[in-house]
Amino acid sequence: MTDVRQHTIRTPIQVIAHRGASDDAPEHTLAAYRKAIEDGADALECDVRLTADGHLVCVHDRRVNRTSNGRGAVSALELSALAALDFGSWKDREESPDWDPASGELTSVLTLERLLELVTETRKAGRPLELAIETKHPTRWAGQVEERLLHLLKRFGLDDPPADGPSPVRVMSFSARSLHRVQAAAPTLPTVSLMQFVTPRLRDGRRLPAGARIAGPGMRIVRSHPGYIDRLHAAGHRVHVWTVNEPADVDLCVRLGVEAIITNRPKQVLSQLGRV
Ligand code: G3P
Ligand code: CA
Repeated sequence: MTDVRQHTIRTPIQVIAHRGASDDAPEHTLAAYRKAIEDGADALECDVRLTADGHLVCVHDRRVNRTSNGRGAVSALELSALAALDFGSWKDREESPDWDPASGELTSVLTLERLLELVTETRKAGRPLELAIETKHPTRWAGQVEERLLHLLKRFGLDDPPADGPSPVRVMSFSARSLHRVQAAAPTLPTVSLMQFVTPRLRDGRRLPAGARIAGPGMRIVRSHPGYIDRLHAAGHRVHVWTVNEPADVDLCVRLGVEAIITNRPKQVLSQLGRV
């Protein structure tokens, strides 16, 4: 096993708020993203799914059952039906004096369009916030998720990042097919190949699925195969790890020199890193 003490610490690690500050506020709500920005996150993560009438919404599960008071698959519901649901009350949370229940920010379904507006507003105000968008169930819609996503990114001027700076947006997926579609249509947009397991095909770390340059291993891989992170780095890949919530896992990621940590607790991680 790799001696993690040998690793150079490459800081600062980018801190990405997973589904927003989703430990503090209901995941994927505007309130969760505003909280992440307030906490100082460098980037936001969101999952996207297509509604029955072709809108991209930020919802993790295939169905709305866990995170709302409704039932059914996102893909079978129109945006108007999703907008009538409560996506916030399921979560126990501490009430913040800054959260106005009447605004709907704690409870409304969030469209990707609205999230892109928030990111754009924040960047215009001088903060270089980034967004990592994960395509979910991309095979169900035969390219429509990516098509709609790239159409929206183009509208916001986010589909073709500057050559001399970091991209405001990157697209992540467990699906190589989805990443291929994105790369074919927007070759300059960075893509992240998410991985649950180190399969024999991936073991040497040299080639990521769909030619992605960023690897997105789960924390379980990092704990069980720290040497794999070395191999990814040696092959020239950046490494963005999910979902890193425990202080010992943050420490391990720092010692291994990963480039980004995706966490439900941006405030706690930033504090551990000495950044707040
Ligand atoms: O950021 C990657 C991570 O979110 C992947 O897992 O299930 O939380 O979407 P999941
Ligand atoms: Ca995700």
